[in-house]
Amino acid sequence: MIKTIKTTPYDDQKPGTSGLRKKVPVFQQPNYVENFLQSIFDVQDKRDGRALVIGGDGRYYNETVIQTAIRMAVANGFSKLLIGRNGILSTPAASHLIRKNGALGGIVLSASHNPGGPNEDFGIKYNGENGGPAFESVTEAIYRRSKEIDSYRIAETPDVDISSLGSCSVGPCEVRIVDPVTDYANLMETLVDFAAIRTLLKSGSRMVFDAMHAVTGPYAEEIFVRRLGADPEAMMHTKPLPDFGGHHPDPNMVHAKTLFDMMMRDDGPDFGAASDGDGDRNLILGRNFFVTPSDSLAMIAANAHLAPGYRKGIKGIARSMPTSQAADRVAEKRGIAMHETPTGWKFFGNLLDAAKVTICGEESAGTGSDHVREKDGLWAVLMWLNILAVRRQSVAQIAVEHWAEFGRNYYSRHDYEGIDVEVAEDLMEALRARLPNLAGTRFGSVIVERADDFAYDDPIDGSRSERQGIRIFMEGGSRIVYRLSGTGTSGATLRVYLERFEPDVAKHDLDPQDALTDLIRAADEIAGISSRTGRKGPTVVT
Ligand code: G1P
Ligand code: ZN
Repeated sequence: MIKTIKTTPYDDQKPGTSGLRKKVPVFQQPNYVENFLQSIFDVQDKRDGRALVIGGDGRYYNETVIQTAIRMAVANGFSKLLIGRNGILSTPAASHLIRKNGALGGIVLSASHNPGGPNEDFGIKYNGENGGPAFESVTEAIYRRSKEIDSYRIAETPDVDISSLGSCSVGPCEVRIVDPVTDYANLMETLVDFAAIRTLLKSGSRMVFDAMHAVTGPYAEEIFVRRLGADPEAMMHTKPLPDFGGHHPDPNMVHAKTLFDMMMRDDGPDFGAASDGDGDRNLILGRNFFVTPSDSLAMIAANAHLAPGYRKGIKGIARSMPTSQAADRVAEKRGIAMHETPTGWKFFGNLLDAAKVTICGEESAGTGSDHVREKDGLWAVLMWLNILAVRRQSVAQIAVEHWAEFGRNYYSRHDYEGIDVEVAEDLMEALRARLPNLAGTRFGSVIVERADDFAYDDPIDGSRSERQGIRIFMEGGSRIVYRLSGTGTSGATLRVYLERFEPDVAKHDLDPQDALTDLIRAADEIAGISSRTGRKGPTVVT
């Protein structure tokens, strides 16, 4: 029943920051999915009787690819498969399943916060045995393999019923359909003080959660409603839909607008949160208050000891390079190690495995800890609820006190989406060429202190990652960072990250865009953004 099918390679199967991400019609080309999966199996060819985890965020094409992955995993010698019921597994839950079961790895189907549907985005990501995204050496090898692949192996079997729990055999392989929520929810109970949160919610404190018709709906109902006693009415958009109800499952003020508007009212709930398509990102809101992801990382780290899983303190903090340095201030004051890594969660993997860090985060709404090897949206939400339950203060009060203690890092990211790829690459190259001559140059009120192209030497495996983004450090601690997105599916996206440190409490209540005006102007002048792209301003400001 196992067949070897001849195929011809595609040349565009290079995994980006988070796996192979393309439009659905690209994945629907003949053998496109099969080629990529076979490339993964060829590169990761040791089985040792270990299981493979398969699941996704429920978007359009999820179930089709799950069935293909089952047939191919069977044909490629796996003796055990763990599949989330209905093909559903949030990214952090998949990470946990891999770790808990000592699996060889996992196939995670998602395009994260990108829209879903027949003409929208899809993605395939391979996670390794530590539960985290495959290391760069592995993704490079997968890409090389995909360019020379000439056949793939597949079992000719009918679709497996993935809608009910239990085990069945497909040839010599045991296929187990597991509940996607239970193990994950149990893990959360070991880390976060559920009793304290139950008391908080019982006392009348109001929370709302927006699952954005994506994967976290069933998780939210189990954890917030059934285990923590939240009002079921306060759970929004909990039914996962293949097209996310026609919206982008991106938890920000544009796409989670209903939640945002609700929270920005004086009589709004005390706490509001959302997660993205595959459940690894988070949005944290208080009444009339937005917590930036960079601040959230710093505040969770500063308060982590209030949660049972971190009572003994944290070993270290890691942040991606463009993430604001707010967490560095916490690490410095508390005498904790701080690590700066390139963009992408995979770079935290080695540090977490080596127990060098406990908490990590990215400015792009990703926060997590050593409990899994992915960022974890619901974990961040639960950590905030835990902090609120213990401190009995509002989100805004906690933030204001944090800034008073550590200073405030004003921060914003400006994205220029859909730029011509060549224009974007030329801009970056011209910037690189300017680097040696920038120190000492004045741009309006800011003066460049030093500038470089960020390179990272992994302290654990010694690997080096170069050209990870241009950093311009200003006198006084401000910073501008430029990099091109590695996750876009059309054209290029230039990301400009702006940061200004403000120690003075009297100046902690500015609007971030106002606080950053001089840097915004300098960023344009240094890179010639408007002149090169013809754009008057960014497409998205976060
Ligand atoms: C973006 C974010 C990055 C994150 C990645 C995957 O990548 O900026 O922090 O790790 O999505 O969720 P980018 O498009 O910038 O390459
Ligand atoms: Zn995501």
